[in-house]
Amino acid sequence: MTVRLYLPRDAAARSMGADRVARTIEETARARKLDLQLVRTGSRGLLWLEPLLEVETPQGRVGYGPVSADNVASLLTDAVLKGGAHPLCIGLVEQHPYFASQQRLTFARVGVIDPLSLQQYQAHGGYQGLQQALKMSPADIVQAVTDSGLRGRGGAAFPTGIKWKTVLDQKATPKYITCNADEGDSGTFADRMLMEGDPLCLIEGMTIAALAVGATQGYVYVRIEYPDAIRTLREAIGIARTAGFLGPSIQGSGKAFELEVRCGAGAYICGEETSMLESLEGKRGEVRVRPPLPAIEGLFGKPTVVNNVISLASVPVILAKGAAHYRDFGLGRSRGTLPFQLAGNIRHGGLVERAFGMTLRELLYDYGGGSASGRPIRAVQVGGPLGAYFPESLFDTVVDYEAFAGVGGMLGHGGIVAFDDTVDLAQMARYALEFCAIESCGKCTPCRIGSTRGTEVIDRIMRNENRERNLGLLQDLCETMLQGSLCGLGGMTPIPVQSALQHFPEDFMRTRS
Ligand SMILES: Cc1cc2nc3c(=O)[nH]c(=O)nc-3n(C[C@H](O)[C@H](O)[C@H](O)COP(=O)(O)O)c2cc1C
Ligand code: SF4
Repeated sequence: MTVRLYLPRDAAARSMGADRVARTIEETARARKLDLQLVRTGSRGLLWLEPLLEVETPQGRVGYGPVSADNVASLLTDAVLKGGAHPLCIGLVEQHPYFASQQRLTFARVGVIDPLSLQQYQAHGGYQGLQQALKMSPADIVQAVTDSGLRGRGGAAFPTGIKWKTVLDQKATPKYITCNADEGDSGTFADRMLMEGDPLCLIEGMTIAALAVGATQGYVYVRIEYPDAIRTLREAIGIARTAGFLGPSIQGSGKAFELEVRCGAGAYICGEETSMLESLEGKRGEVRVRPPLPAIEGLFGKPTVVNNVISLASVPVILAKGAAHYRDFGLGRSRGTLPFQLAGNIRHGGLVERAFGMTLRELLYDYGGGSASGRPIRAVQVGGPLGAYFPESLFDTVVDYEAFAGVGGMLGHGGIVAFDDTVDLAQMARYALEFCAIESCGKCTPCRIGSTRGTEVIDRIMRNENRERNLGLLQDLCETMLQGSLCGLGGMTPIPVQSALQHFPEDFMRTRS
């Protein structure tokens, strides 16, 4: 009987040698005349175990990892091919503590199916959401998304249903669906994992969005640093089109929707929605003054939905299982699940999809296992390079949008970067300003000039030149950037700086040469 093996084709697994492992498995199977089928999947998100090889057994898939090509000979034995013991065995993957307690709604298929198999996609619930949507009126689809409580997962957490309603209400045509897959935040990789592991889910979500607002053309804006995601998405779009899930008449409905992938060069500011639209139009990525909102005058001046990958990929399950099912996860105004991404100095880095409501400490220790270095975790930055630095005393903060805002932070795209007690928060504050100086689009003065002056002020503080006066100046500068910047890059760069000053003032008192 054919034994089925699964190995990720995700870029994280490939970077750890998954392709070599795959080749060695095939060569060894040929040499030993083994009846094997190797399925390449997305990643389960247990990144420290990549490449994670899984063997299908009647009880479920048994995992072995991290596997190197040198391990293959000892893995392709009768015992292991039945899920038996091996030093790399982690047992049944779905019973692994890191995985078993997750609530996978958006990532339900990632790591499970071949991302380019329409048959497997549909066998695991794929396209049920679209089938539902095809039976509904545009207003009912928008209402379902509103009722689900879904808020944008790209950073600003704006209610997705309200955004869609604005686009639906516009008379101008054509309308566009744009997917923001720039994923520029430090420590984030959920968009990439979804696009590589379940691209049809994103395509389905965008198609439902198109039906909801009456759009006929969509674009996925992906940064060029994601070649695997770009390739996988393009292939998946071809598969969906061939099967009639994209094109002039989606599933014979008479409603048209076309989709293309567009590559960005990888500037952080091109993740800001209006810069992304400029870039999609072939122009320099520079922020537009709002109003008008993109929902009213967006791409090429037409009504445009701009949503993050995870926002759009959460839509199929909302339509398939109902708004109430999705809304039942989470708490307060933070409904559903968020794929948290654990990165930085953390022992078990990876992706954890859970409902809102757990604490930062649970994520860092129950899932992350503490720091990779074994030293105490001193600070975490949540929400990308513009997020606050949290000290240990805030690790019991509940992970939801409002609770985070209440302690001066933001959840953003769910990236959590851990630092141990060797971190220098004055240097990190300087880095935030330097990052802003490098990535600023240059349109407004507080950000363009303020970020550069800010790094100079921190340099003076660290050299103990007029320290007290320069600390005051730094606070002033942060206020000016907060109040006077045109967009979130200049407007939020003060957050990491001010949180470092507030929670780690001692680091600004140490003199460096
Ligand atoms: C400087 C800056 C960078 C951003 N980068 C991203 C990004 O990489 N991906 C993303 O989805 N949103 C990013 N955003 C947020 C977008 O402007 C926008 O709010 C989002 O794409 C809307 O989608 P959502 O409602 O689904 O979250 C960024 C915002 C700012 C200010
Ligand atoms: S804040 Fe910075 S990135 Fe944003 S518009 Fe102004 S100069 Fe450009």
